[in-house]
Amino acid sequence: MKALILSGGKGTRLRPLTYTGAKQLVPVANKPILWYGLEAIVAAGITDIGIIISPETGEEIQLKTGNGDRFGANITYITQDQPAGLAHAVKIAQPFLGDTSFIMYLGDNLIQDSLGTFLDQFKEQQLDGLILLRSVKNPTAFGVATLDAQGRVLKLVEKPKIPESNLALVGVYFFSAEIHRSIAEIQPSARGELEITDAISHLIDRQGNVQARELKGWWLDTGKKDDLLEANQIILDSCVSTEIAGELDDKSQVNGRVSIGQGTKIINSIIRGPVVIGKDCCITNCFIGSYSSIADTVTLIDSELDHSVILQGAKIEGIHQRIVDSVIGQRASLQRTHHRPKALRFMVGDDCQIELT
Ligand code: TTP
Repeated sequence: MKALILSGGKGTRLRPLTYTGAKQLVPVANKPILWYGLEAIVAAGITDIGIIISPETGEEIQLKTGNGDRFGANITYITQDQPAGLAHAVKIAQPFLGDTSFIMYLGDNLIQDSLGTFLDQFKEQQLDGLILLRSVKNPTAFGVATLDAQGRVLKLVEKPKIPESNLALVGVYFFSAEIHRSIAEIQPSARGELEITDAISHLIDRQGNVQARELKGWWLDTGKKDDLLEANQIILDSCVSTEIAGELDDKSQVNGRVSIGQGTKIINSIIRGPVVIGKDCCITNCFIGSYSSIADTVTLIDSELDHSVILQGAKIEGIHQRIVDSVIGQRASLQRTHHRPKALRFMVGDDCQIELT
């Protein structure tokens, strides 16, 4: 059994962050999203892992993630020249996958359920496909499954205009090598992609044994800002424990579960967990509210923050109005100046969103 993690794509919905970096490396609770999937796969006992990368962001992913040693895995990187669809990614990975069964894992997805139980069922029942489903409020934004009374998969439709169910296809799939024969037969969809939903439908039409299981725990697809913030909240809720390696002065106060990295200095500030703060940050005269993740080398001065993700090297100074539900990119700078006349001055990149409330 092998695994294939899809970590290419365009990431248009997470612009502007994805102009300069891979969306799968955006941190959730200060750890790249991609690494949660990698760890879940290794925890299920699979160590031979292929990662699909794009020419634009592949190098950054390889540099950060390495050859797999740190995860106890052996990673093979496979470059996909164009984001031509999920099934296309499997097609180009065929030399790596060979005739083995494999887990396909979308590198921007996180699930709470462990993979082991599904993997056991997939193997014991010798399935050609096992797909995971989760009921959602807005099925038109997902691949949607129709099941029969016995729970067998009858049909899959990608982003249907009129969905037949509210069961969305989660970004984790289990396949036998039969999927390659279906991928070889399908044509690109109207949006020009080789769709994995079409390949699975083809497999079902060929009498392949495809089953579905509904997830019990949460599923997060971190492709958009609000999903990223929700993932950050859920992971901070479940994973952070108090660990203070940095320095706090005696005017500072920490409540709840807070992790503070080495070399970080907290001066005259209140931190209300769950919060994670990376290494070598400087936090002075601040309030840091729950569900905030602050990456390494961030500077926060005279500011208030809540339910936000601040990426590496960002600097926020003098913003006394509370910053909430925000994602601030690497090295971004937000400062209140004392120039006259009082005015707002911006240097904002393409596709940024700023709300003044
Ligand atoms: P998506 O989120 O469906 O696509 P995307 O990353 O291009 O994002 P957007 O829709 O915002 O433009 O992709 C799911 C995962 O699969 C993600 O980790 C990227 C990866 N992927 C590939 O590796 N190759 C591909 O051809 C596609 C479409 C996605």
